[in-house]
Amino acid sequence: MSKTAILEIDGKKYEFPVVIGTENEEAIDIKTLRSVTNGITTIDPGYKNTGSCESAITFLNGEEGILRYRGYSIEELAEKADFLEVAYLLIFGELPTQPELDKFHNDIKAQSHVDEDVKKILDGFPKSAHPMGVLSSLTSALIAFNPSSVNVDSEEDMYKAIVKILGKFPVLTAWTHRKRAGLPLDYGDENLGYVDNFIKMMFKKPSGDYTSKKTVVNAMDKLLILHADHEQNCSTSTVRMVGSSHAGLFASLSAGINALWGPLHGGANQAVIEMLEKIKEDGGDTKKFMEKAKDKDDPFRLMGFGHRVYKNFDPRAKIIKKAADDVLAELGMEDEVLDIAKALEKEALEDSYFVDRKLYPNVDFYSGIIYRALGIPVEMFTPMFALGRLPGWIAQWREMRLRKEPIGRPRQVYIGENLRQFKAIEKR
Ligand code: SDX
Repeated sequence: MSKTAILEIDGKKYEFPVVIGTENEEAIDIKTLRSVTNGITTIDPGYKNTGSCESAITFLNGEEGILRYRGYSIEELAEKADFLEVAYLLIFGELPTQPELDKFHNDIKAQSHVDEDVKKILDGFPKSAHPMGVLSSLTSALIAFNPSSVNVDSEEDMYKAIVKILGKFPVLTAWTHRKRAGLPLDYGDENLGYVDNFIKMMFKKPSGDYTSKKTVVNAMDKLLILHADHEQNCSTSTVRMVGSSHAGLFASLSAGINALWGPLHGGANQAVIEMLEKIKEDGGDTKKFMEKAKDKDDPFRLMGFGHRVYKNFDPRAKIIKKAADDVLAELGMEDEVLDIAKALEKEALEDSYFVDRKLYPNVDFYSGIIYRALGIPVEMFTPMFALGRLPGWIAQWREMRLRKEPIGRPRQVYIGENLRQFKAIEKR
């Protein structure tokens, strides 16, 4: 059943087709708007009402708090799948058979070596450098060491670039952490699983052996799954935009890492813990900070709260909140800021400012509690988000290239000076 939308301007009517998705989302297709109206465009700061593409990867329903990767619910995947399986699903569209998964993992392991000269770039950074800046730089630097991964037009070339970055990114992430911690770099162990090996590269002590801890591996695996994709969020849209100029995969991912760094986006997981620590040091008066969050004259925001799409609970926040309790219990740990987080959540859910604006905890509100329990330093929280989001960025970039999407180039409404004549400096 086809639908159309009518736009009337200056007494003239224009008809546009309505695109209907497989979950009955509807969008007015304005591809011809500028040409049929002789130059009229739309404007939508922050793209709150604008779809950039049609995609078959992730479905979100913000009103009902639904998140699905390739049709599978996030609840099922977090419970029953592992991260590499989910990465395969997002990128190639189907859950892998065991032989497919084994081949994928072996192809990734074969590409997990990072050129020793990359260490010289890493050594050029001060220990104080934020790891997101180091990671985006090293990801870009990989281009120089893997020139064949730049112009990837065939699916085969894309596959090679994909397994390269899936093999090397965990190494770069772990190296970035170890450099800051003053630890010798670790090369991992290809006999370990993908996530287990990452944890080894992060935490293996120079003088001791590495023993996998099931609780830690399972918790990290679940967190990475929960962060793996989220349709057209800021960093993913950045990856698609940069990739639309046919910049290579690594260059597009480096741009996505920088977009994710922002405290309004992936950087929020670090900002949440810093906020909770500040409330704890200030005596734990959550009501005082709630008032600050509601005060328009106060720049303080309740980090980890609110979302552009979810106007209900972020389903990932629900899963992470339960996992935080489970991980702390399994590790026999307590964390006072978890109690502060729960108190803030309870108060916000009963406060009309938050209820009226449909502000609920998002994925970043509780994730830092678990990262901290796993021994991850707070500056490394957003790199953990990037490691999780990597397969989603790759899947979205690959879809954009395979669908031969046009280069992204939005229009604008000019509000500057009209034509004026140049004045010599002595006459200004
Ligand atoms: C992620 O897009 C994705 O999918 C992102 C993500 C992913 O997986 O990729 O889900 C990951 O980025 C999660 C969000 C992490 N960011 C934070 O937790 C930072 C705190 N949250 C806010 O900055 C904000 O909620 C955003 C940025 C997340 C959403 O901003 P919007 O959609 O532009 O909403 P808005 O800023 O227009 O806010 C609407 C109203 C405003 O009040 P009024 O002007 O209507 O009076 O809600 C208020 C805002 O002031 N508001 C908040 C608030 N968030 C919104 N007030 C206090 N504290 C907050 N956190």
